[in-house]
Amino acid sequence: MKQYDFVIVGAGLFGAVFACEMKKIGKKCLVIDKRKHKGGNVYCEEIDDINVHKYGAHIFHTNDKKIWDYVNSFVQFNRYTNSPLANYKGKLYNLPFNMNTFYQLWGVKTPEEAKRKIREQVAASFENEPKNLEQQALSLVGEDIYNILIKGYTEKQWGRKAEDLPAFIIKRLPVRFTFDNNYFDDKYQGIPIGGYNKLIDGLLQGIEVRLEVDYFEDRPHWASIAERIVFTGKIDQFFEYKFGILEYRSLHFETERLEVENYQGNAVVNYTEAEVPYTRIIEHKHFEFGRQPNTVITKEYPCEWTPGIEPYYPINDEKNSNMFKQYQQLADKEANIIFGGRLAEYRYYDMHQVIGSALKKVETIKAIIL
Ligand code: FDA
Repeated sequence: MKQYDFVIVGAGLFGAVFACEMKKIGKKCLVIDKRKHKGGNVYCEEIDDINVHKYGAHIFHTNDKKIWDYVNSFVQFNRYTNSPLANYKGKLYNLPFNMNTFYQLWGVKTPEEAKRKIREQVAASFENEPKNLEQQALSLVGEDIYNILIKGYTEKQWGRKAEDLPAFIIKRLPVRFTFDNNYFDDKYQGIPIGGYNKLIDGLLQGIEVRLEVDYFEDRPHWASIAERIVFTGKIDQFFEYKFGILEYRSLHFETERLEVENYQGNAVVNYTEAEVPYTRIIEHKHFEFGRQPNTVITKEYPCEWTPGIEPYYPINDEKNSNMFKQYQQLADKEANIIFGGRLAEYRYYDMHQVIGSALKKVETIKAIIL
């Protein structure tokens, strides 16, 4: 019998949920993470009593009552509703595209008028079969919405001209003919009261965690002390980049503490023009309705990913998807290694999805070990 049932590589949401559920059935887990903190990308750093979302704005939303009840069993969530604004050349527009946006764009006041305007705009710019992202967006919402609210933002996000981006990136562009600025359609949303660290602390309560420990520095050691390894790091690194390096898009964050009480009046403001280099400014205190005397803002700059910097968004194009499939085939053959989470599965996961995926994996493993 080895010292641990599971060594879990990664103290992010996947690793934390897995450890928590295994502890419930009496399994002994050790969680390691190469970072200085727990939580993975949902980690919050406290600055001036404000929870700063260190790796980008995180808003919890789900339609699944079980997942909502699950997270609320560790920490209570507030009633934060994501209603971002877009700033284009100094003018503000509500998002997602709704009757407020259409009024700001065209002065239209009724859904009928807005629908007519969009129909006219789409007809004026319609191409037969959209061949790229620009044509796709124009065929869905027409020129004004595309030029003011989509083009610059998307080009900054991907670092490429919209004409050079594939059409499939935008499958649909939801337009809403009500005066409703709630970004998500999900039944439940909010932010943990006191920040995401409370959720992670709740999940990892009573579980041994070692920080600043990189799994790759001593793989044989971890294998020698655990019956099974749960791996939530990069799958290509796990297999020593045998089939090549999986590509990502990255982000660079610039955080400033300001001696003003309220900088922009909203947690999220997107900058949709190409000339402003960042895509959005986050004012963290508004996620928790903060009343602190100062504020903290973060400017988010999309950037190229190179090995060594933080990988954020997988580039799920054909080349990378095929490469991932090869890695996945190797992963399937590893009897005592469980792969999970955004880096091991090379996919973008929202928080509720990664929690759902970890809970599902727990059930599969329980069926094997119990
Ligand atoms: P995560 O990356 O969090 O954890 C993996 C951990 O493994 C890391 O802590 C890492 O250090 C560790 N690790 C990796 N390799 C290791 C090694 N060799 N040795 C030791 N440790 C190692 N979702 C949502 O629902 N609402 C939102 O608003 C947002 N917002 C958002 C913004 C941005 C910019 C991004 C990129 C993502 C979001 N998300 C989101 C998604 C959310 O961040 C995501 O679902 C979870 O963080 C995924 O958790 P994981 O555990 O899979 O990975």
